[in-house]
Amino acid sequence: MPGLGVAPRGRYIPKPMQAVFDHLEAGQARAVADLCEYLRFASVSAQPAHAPDVQACADWLVAHCRAIGLQAERHSTPGHPIVLARTPRRAGRPHFLIYGHYDVQPPEPLELWRTPPFQPTVRDGRIYARGATDNKGQHFAHLKAVQAYLATGTELPCDLTFLIEGEEEVGSKALAGFLRQHRRELKCQQVVISDTGMPSLRHPALTYSLRGIAALEVIVRGPAADLHSGIYGGSVDNPAMVLCQMLARLRDGRGRITVPGFYKDVAPLSRAERRELARLPYSAPAYRKLLGVPALNGERGFTANEQRSARPTLEINGLTSGYQGEGSKTIVPAWARAKITCRLVPDQSPEDITRRLTSHLRRLCPPTVRLEILSGHGAEPYLTPPTGPAAQAALEALEAAFGARPVQLREGGSIPIVTQFKKLLGVDSLLLGLALPDDNLHSPNEKFELACLHGGARMSAHLWPRLSAAF
Ligand code: BES
Ligand code: ZN
Repeated sequence: MPGLGVAPRGRYIPKPMQAVFDHLEAGQARAVADLCEYLRFASVSAQPAHAPDVQACADWLVAHCRAIGLQAERHSTPGHPIVLARTPRRAGRPHFLIYGHYDVQPPEPLELWRTPPFQPTVRDGRIYARGATDNKGQHFAHLKAVQAYLATGTELPCDLTFLIEGEEEVGSKALAGFLRQHRRELKCQQVVISDTGMPSLRHPALTYSLRGIAALEVIVRGPAADLHSGIYGGSVDNPAMVLCQMLARLRDGRGRITVPGFYKDVAPLSRAERRELARLPYSAPAYRKLLGVPALNGERGFTANEQRSARPTLEINGLTSGYQGEGSKTIVPAWARAKITCRLVPDQSPEDITRRLTSHLRRLCPPTVRLEILSGHGAEPYLTPPTGPAAQAALEALEAAFGARPVQLREGGSIPIVTQFKKLLGVDSLLLGLALPDDNLHSPNEKFELACLHGGARMSAHLWPRLSAAF
């Protein structure tokens, strides 16, 4: 493993870092074993039955951080605990925050997993488990890098604080309050997050934009109870039919969302940016195959990559009504409900989109049913131009670790807290994702490549001297 190839600018000149990289290489098997231990906790934040697993996972993380030489503690919140772990402080050094989340998505449907989601299994150079890539494996790579510095007595050029939360997958409800409360201690020069993706191991990525989100649930109620569809059907409206008709009207034949004003605040993509995004590796047949669809579909006039990262969307995430069991049951269901989220791009706001969508649904709803709309979590979109010395430092670290020219891209997913880091701490986030396109985030058989774990740890080790020199 080479040491730092390029002398960083600024006041800090790093000592040769060979010991750090040697330590990382020698510790790879142990790192995988430790990550497997971390992945055994079913830290599913959305399901109250898993609250004890979430707590136990936070405790394990605190213990692990302490074992590798960090000062760590667990902070209770109204929701799931937040773990803070820091390197020993030295006056006058830059301070960086490494954000991650130890909560995971629900693993269902369980029958589609080749091996159980919370029994991590290494196959073909990959770890399969719920949370492997989203996000335990990704922040674990940073922990291993910092461990290597501490274990080899290599001086870190900066102070580091890990902030690992337990509610990212359910909207990071407690974290904004926590940031406000701990503002002084968390004051830093930059946030670093590995919770996004890269197109391939040959294309390590710096992400400069994330979409925001607006979630709501629509409930259509008809008769007081399920009715015999033969006796009464035809004389009352069918809530499932009404809901489907309403939802079907939310998108036109060109893939545009029909909610009035939906695109009003969308910042147009510049020609230069479209040209840049078009340089990312992409093959339509391969993409189609990866996703298992017979044909791709999206808003006309935009490439698939633009559609999934730089354009707003409205998706039905869940749709329920009537009888779902075996065989048939002849009823007019009493109710129907749908879970909907919109992904937002600069300069849309979740409040505005929720308001517009809510009033549009009310307009579409006939008087034959009752409509209830529950608004859910929201997050603003994020964009920071990938220029300046911090971005440069990140690109250098990516290149040094993965041995390939990094790309700069937008991601379609959301990390709700990044705009709060900007608002409350006044700092931007460097998004250095380690997930590959076939990692199955939020799906059965989620996996994390060992090459991403080890490459991510090297990237983190390379980053701190370079990033410190940028401040
Ligand atoms: N790690 C993802 C976000 C992500 C994944 C961003 C891939 C870009 C590329 C994160 O854990 C996530 O799933 N976020 C949720 C947030 C939501 C629940 C508010 C999302 O995007 O659905
Ligand atoms: Zn996620």
